[in-house]
Amino acid sequence: PVPYVALNDGHKVPGVGLGCWMGAPGAAEETYGMVKNALKAGYRHFDTAFGYGNEEAVGRAIRESGIPRSEIFVTTKLTNKHHGSVAEGFELSFKNLNIEYIDLYLMHWPNANDDKDEPIPYGVSPTFVETWKDMEGLLGTGKVRSLGVSNFSIKTLEELLPHAKIVPVTNQVECNVYYPQHKLQEYCKSKGITITAYGPLGQYKNTFLADPEVIKVAEKNKATPAQIAISWLVQRGVIPVPKSSNPERLKQNITLVTLSKEDFDTIDNLHKQPGKHRSLDGYTNRVPGHLAAWTMEQMGW
Ligand code: A2P
Repeated sequence: PVPYVALNDGHKVPGVGLGCWMGAPGAAEETYGMVKNALKAGYRHFDTAFGYGNEEAVGRAIRESGIPRSEIFVTTKLTNKHHGSVAEGFELSFKNLNIEYIDLYLMHWPNANDDKDEPIPYGVSPTFVETWKDMEGLLGTGKVRSLGVSNFSIKTLEELLPHAKIVPVTNQVECNVYYPQHKLQEYCKSKGITITAYGPLGQYKNTFLADPEVIKVAEKNKATPAQIAISWLVQRGVIPVPKSSNPERLKQNITLVTLSKEDFDTIDNLHKQPGKHRSLDGYTNRVPGHLAAWTMEQMGW
């Protein structure tokens, strides 16, 4: 069974969720089918975003399931071009989802974009501090229960936290076997912030699932490499949100194994081997122009 993780504001979240990024915005019917299958398989935690273009499909599948709303945890995210219009951005997601309330609302990225969706330079208004203050105002609406951030480095958190009345409950970042985020997790833990892992299987280039050492640990535990990658995160207290459109893999990804200390350490240390640490260049290369005004250095990555 998937354990719950306690958040710093008294709420709790199922320790594995379904990531609903389909690799491109939209894909509403595929998302709808995936969420339906996931609910059947026992998932009770769903992670979407305005930018994924499929909030409506996620909400529809949840409503139609007939499962009590209180048993389901739904996260969505403020998109970059709504940093200067947080209330409006939130209302769009709220209407798209149409599920009474949103459990967790995240700032998707620290950088803001303008109306044309072009990045606004670091430090220029709306800054992520200003955006966070506006997000804090949402708690009073009763339409959202918890607030968090995504893609924040230690540097950007250090800049945010002195101004935050509400400490984010989580920081959702890319986190997996070849990119374990140990330092960031340690920092976040000291502030009471959990880490949610996107790309826990390496997204669409899940090379470590074919790593001979991961395969060895998988065979030893009568599990698949994906189950090892997810179970290791859960054992670290990280909250993975793997995506799968395949019913069999959906089931696999919430069937956890308990790793021995030896197996845990093998996976925990793999990233130290040559060629097994994911390069951060990916952030700028993956989405051309996306962070043009926000270099990796400014973001603290
Ligand atoms: P599919 O949707 O066909 O299952 P991440 O969660 O890191 O973003 O990775 C998602 C990718 O990993 C998708 O391509 C997904 O494909 C694939 N995937 C999901 N679950 C598994 C699994 N148990 N074993 C192998 N690949 C998986």
